[in-house]
Amino acid sequence: MSDTLESDPPIVEGKPSPFAVPAGCFALSVREVQHYTDRLFRFRVSRPREFRFRSGEFVMIGLPNAEKPVFRAYSIASPAWDEELEFFSIKVPDGPLTEHLQKIREGDTILMRKKPTGTLVNDALEPGKRLWMFSTGTGIAPFASLIRDPETYDKFGTLILTHGCRLVDELKYGQDLVAALREDPLIGELVEGRLIHYPTVTREPFEHQGRITDLITSGKLFEDLGLSRMGPEDDRAMICGSMAMLKDTKELCLSHGLEEGANNKPAQFVVERAFVD
Ligand code: A2P
Repeated sequence: MSDTLESDPPIVEGKPSPFAVPAGCFALSVREVQHYTDRLFRFRVSRPREFRFRSGEFVMIGLPNAEKPVFRAYSIASPAWDEELEFFSIKVPDGPLTEHLQKIREGDTILMRKKPTGTLVNDALEPGKRLWMFSTGTGIAPFASLIRDPETYDKFGTLILTHGCRLVDELKYGQDLVAALREDPLIGELVEGRLIHYPTVTREPFEHQGRITDLITSGKLFEDLGLSRMGPEDDRAMICGSMAMLKDTKELCLSHGLEEGANNKPAQFVVERAFVD
């Protein structure tokens, strides 16, 4: 692992950037890029030795392609123990950052502000028997971090990761992640029988269909899993997705008797938005 920039000047889209690395930022080398659909991709970058974060937090990411780079919040999808940092991103046509970010290649440089933050962390919840992780789209990213962190299994008995997407192809990141985790020589055993994955699709046929909010309201989610409905005694929840999804899922958590928590006041559920445009 290297903690310095491997290319000087920074490289973006295969060419040297005329712009310097701004103060307060790490310049990180792109190690791997994987495209899933014309809307989704994942990338991994080098991790500076001094960069510490809690699984589930987010950072601000930009590119060294402008004098005043555009930064957007990205959840770190890799766990706190990983030697690299992973991100899962949407591609927005004409999006001020993602239009360029989607073209990055191995060896390019990205910028990352030094301070991580966020509410989807184990510290913001009281311990519980079940942890529900409700996500849509790229909102699965913080949970990709948390389900790979042994600390999450210390604090909660069973983890239920729900992932709602429009199309089946958009589920692949989560499906690959869970499959790899079950095979992992270090954490695979810990995960066995304790991680439940519930993908659902809204715009084409699939094994599970419908918005997660509708599946909670109708009770189908709990029926499909053979689990009781959520309640404040045993259940904790984390929510990450679009603004509308956050609002609707939060209301459902409240109506099931769960109370919202924060870093300085742990309770029964927490909410974060997937910010990228
Ligand atoms: P739908 O196809 O009915 O809009 P997006 O890509 O727009 O972020 O959507 C990702 C997934 O989240 C889609 O399956 C979408 O369903 C679903 N979704 C959108 N709004 C909500 C909401 N308010 N509550 C729950 N799921 C939602």
